[in-house]
Amino acid sequence: MSLDSSHLNLRISDTPTGVARQAADWIVQQANTAIDERGLFRIALAGGSTPRVTYGLLVEADTDWSKWHIYYGDERCLPPQDPERNSHMAQSNWLEKIPLPEANHHPIPAEAGAIEAAAQYHQVLPKKLDLVLLGMGQDGHTASLFPGQEASWQGAAGERAIAVFNAPKPPPERVSLSLDYILAAEQRAVLVTGADKQAPCQQWFEGHPLPIQQATASAAVVFADRAAMNDQ
Ligand code: 6PG
Repeated sequence: MSLDSSHLNLRISDTPTGVARQAADWIVQQANTAIDERGLFRIALAGGSTPRVTYGLLVEADTDWSKWHIYYGDERCLPPQDPERNSHMAQSNWLEKIPLPEANHHPIPAEAGAIEAAAQYHQVLPKKLDLVLLGMGQDGHTASLFPGQEASWQGAAGERAIAVFNAPKPPPERVSLSLDYILAAEQRAVLVTGADKQAPCQQWFEGHPLPIQQATASAAVVFADRAAMNDQ
């Protein structure tokens, strides 16, 4: 797969487990550096299923959890304990198993509805995150920024969180970090595995203006397996 985007730091593993191991080790390195330099680490988590193994590996991380602040890149407008919530996946695989102070966990109040939740979350989010973790759908969406909804990706000027309606990936109502806020983060990291992601990855690397391409325009580390890279 040709990669004509030099601002992407591509790290390929043989398997999804290899991606999870590489990503988990790298995330902990970034966290411990941020903690050493600034006394805290502010990360927004990716949803979907890909990050599950990475989150499970992070349970054993050698780090000071009291210095971590956990946010979310997007959330589905479902009840707080709904198993389809991105926060549920992160909590059940990782956050419930570590001594993270409750005050340091910042789920999106998506149960309040997209517009209210986005407004509330804008106030919760720091001016700038240290790291935004991102996944990618088969249509090239990331967080809850979907193709064809470009007008909504930014929200109003300076909005850090946006309301999303009619999302093609259920549920239709969501909250997402805005494109500019994702780009403003210190770093971005994408986790992508599986042959079903080959086509969007190829389009991304060729520069097609997919949400994933726009969200990584200011550089990103990409953890991918050979299946997604069509590099068997
Ligand atoms: C969501 C995610 C979404 C996800 C991609 C990839 O709410 O579904 O935030 O952006 O990261 O759809 O999902 P998979 O990792 O399950 O392929």
